[in-house]
Amino acid sequence: MRIGIIGAGNIGGTLTRRLCALGHEVRVANSRAPETLAELAAETGATAVWAAEAARDADLVIVSIPQKNVPDLAHGIVSTAKPGAAVIETNNYYPRQRDGLIAEIEDGLPESVWVSQQLGVPVVKVFNGIFWKRLLENGAPAGTRGRIALPVAGADGPAKQAVFDLVDQLGFDPVDGGSLDESWRQQPGTPVYGKDYDAAHTVEALAAASAERPANFRA
Ligand SMILES: NC(=O)c1ccc[n+]([C@@H]2O[C@H](COP(=O)([O-])OP(=O)(O)OC[C@H]3O[C@@H](n4cnc5c(N)ncnc54)[C@H](OP(=O)(O)O)[C@@H]3O)[C@@H](O)[C@H]2O)c1
Repeated sequence: MRIGIIGAGNIGGTLTRRLCALGHEVRVANSRAPETLAELAAETGATAVWAAEAARDADLVIVSIPQKNVPDLAHGIVSTAKPGAAVIETNNYYPRQRDGLIAEIEDGLPESVWVSQQLGVPVVKVFNGIFWKRLLENGAPAGTRGRIALPVAGADGPAKQAVFDLVDQLGFDPVDGGSLDESWRQQPGTPVYGKDYDAAHTVEALAAASAERPANFRA
């Protein structure tokens, strides 16, 4: 697949490494000039591009940048992907450590719904709750006992199915996290967040989540 990745830090860089190793054609961007990603490109075979070019004609797009920076992305930046391409977003809202106050999220809007509104396209939420090192090193073949599961939230359809398939290729069990409106079940501070559970425990943890935002994840 042709995959465009916006954000080349812990998660974007890890996904660049893993997806290139799986044989995907990856274009990756950060907030600066492509030259600043020369090392990552040389290491992985990915093509470093300007952010505005990352999604062009892509089969799948990944946005992995600090939540507060999402509004800085150029209008329509992911809309240059192929029609129907999945747009994954991996972000978390960390008001105290990094992002400052985002009023709509504080008022209860799920973090990914806010991202979707900023980007102007439907998104699929995944990879937000796994530490980047686990994502890099702990993928395992399907059927492996204790294989880490990753919740995937978004509208049902081919784009979500493509994300399920990608998660499996990367060595993790995709678990349906429901619609994007239900994606609060996998936000920071929920029972599933950062836990590396297998599929059965992930299903249980998603069901046990509370819609109320934990106090330590409020501004
Ligand atoms: N770290 C984890 O283990 C982890 C796990 C799951 C989810 N997450 C979430 O995933 C997101 C990314 O986390 P991270 O740890 O990978 O962050 P990070 O290491 O700080 O990297 C952020 C990346 O985003 C790029 N960026 C920032 N603003 C941009 C813009 N306007 N246009 C294009 N690129 C931009 C940065 O580029 P520059 O270098 O040019 O600034 C950098 O490459 C966050 O929302 C985080 O909460 C993180």
